[in-house]
Amino acid sequence: MTSPTRVLVLNGPNLNRLGTREPEIYGTATLAELHAELRGIADGVEIDLRQSNDEGEVIGWLHDAVDARTPVILNPAAFTHYSYALRDAVALVTEAGIPVIEVHLSNPHAREEFRHTSVISGVATGVIAGFGFGSYRLALAQLLSVR
Ligand code: DQA
Repeated sequence: MTSPTRVLVLNGPNLNRLGTREPEIYGTATLAELHAELRGIADGVEIDLRQSNDEGEVIGWLHDAVDARTPVILNPAAFTHYSYALRDAVALVTEAGIPVIEVHLSNPHAREEFRHTSVISGVATGVIAGFGFGSYRLALAQLLSVR
């Protein structure tokens, strides 16, 4: 993978409610604040941050990542735990040699049993969880480190 000029930061369902959604787990900062934070450390790289509550829309964005050869930071949210369709779309990206880093704000392994399974991790390039916005910052640092 050569030096990216753009990074897709894809966020799944309910992450548009960050700021007010279960603040004891996810904190009080919003997705817009995450976007600003990542832009601040992106060093000339475009941060294309998107969120959808619609599985098909996220899958379409992963197809776009293949076509444009854009590396991806993906928080699949609840889709993590059951969406084989999303898994297959992530596999399309990584099989094309483009990194997809799965991130989570919380540490799903320290939470309810159903969150212990990720159907995404097996086809992701790597996984970072449990550091709040730091999970995204670490993923971005990794993607930028190939330059
Ligand atoms: C999450 C963890 C998931 O279990 C949950 O469904 C989310 C957010 C996280 O970022 O910690 O929506 O992906």
